[in-house]
Amino acid sequence: MNTNTPDSPDTAPLSEATRAALEPATQAPHSPGATHIRSFVHRRGHITQGQRDALEQLLDKWSIPYTPQRLDLAAPFGRQAPTVLEIGFGMGETTQKIAQARPDDNFLGVEVFNAGVGSLLRRIEESNLQNLRIIQHDAVEVVRDMIPPDSLAGVHVYFPDPWPKKRHHKRRLLQPPFVSLLASRIAPGGYLHCATDWQDYAVQMLEVLSAEPLLRNTVADYAPRPDYRPQTKFETRGLRLGHGVWDLIFRRTA
Ligand SMILES: C[S@@+](CC[C@H](N)C(=O)[O-])C[C@H]1O[C@@H](n2cnc3c(N)ncnc32)[C@H](O)[C@@H]1O
Repeated sequence: MNTNTPDSPDTAPLSEATRAALEPATQAPHSPGATHIRSFVHRRGHITQGQRDALEQLLDKWSIPYTPQRLDLAAPFGRQAPTVLEIGFGMGETTQKIAQARPDDNFLGVEVFNAGVGSLLRRIEESNLQNLRIIQHDAVEVVRDMIPPDSLAGVHVYFPDPWPKKRHHKRRLLQPPFVSLLASRIAPGGYLHCATDWQDYAVQMLEVLSAEPLLRNTVADYAPRPDYRPQTKFETRGLRLGHGVWDLIFRRTA
């Protein structure tokens, strides 16, 4: 993954069945059905044999297919519990750690990138994690179509693709219409936690989140990194490049 052209679904050969299951996630940014500018692009990326096997063998077991209808959040987990949505989990190391550390919460990870989904499927299987499920699809459509209003206990958006070039800023995920939609899916009192290592995106996030009437900042501006968020892969990369890190934690108003 690189910051100019962030990773997205690769095109390594998969079986027909798996390909069919992945089809929504492999749409091009301007695919005919898309009504919004995608925050990811379709490009080739490396996928290991282990990740490919996991996609073939574990997708049905641990993932929920995208369908344009409301999801009963308790059903895939077989229990009622506070549900936290993570958008863009990358390779899923952080997602696995958080789900393991918070067994009383359900976690729903959304990602489009085949290798990342394969990687997290393996992690779930190997650690027998019962409180984590995956949806491989554009998070904008998942939130819009599948997540019921006022339902989420929290949302994690860690190091979303920064699209650093000005002409690409329109691809950034955290813009007013999507933040508004996202806020409407969080239960009153629930939280939205974002983090970035790009200062100008941090400033944009602060502006957009602060302007959303359904959200209230938990601190004056940027929050200290809470204990439950481990350092992510992209954060490590950003720190190596000398970037700063900014966390934002907002709560949904009543
Ligand atoms: C820069 S990476 C960060 C990964 C991880 N959160 C971390 O901190 O290491 C951003 C991830 O978001 C995913 N992504 C971007 N737009 C998305 C969307 N609309 N829906 C789902 N995933 C998306 C990308 O495929 C990529 O894996």
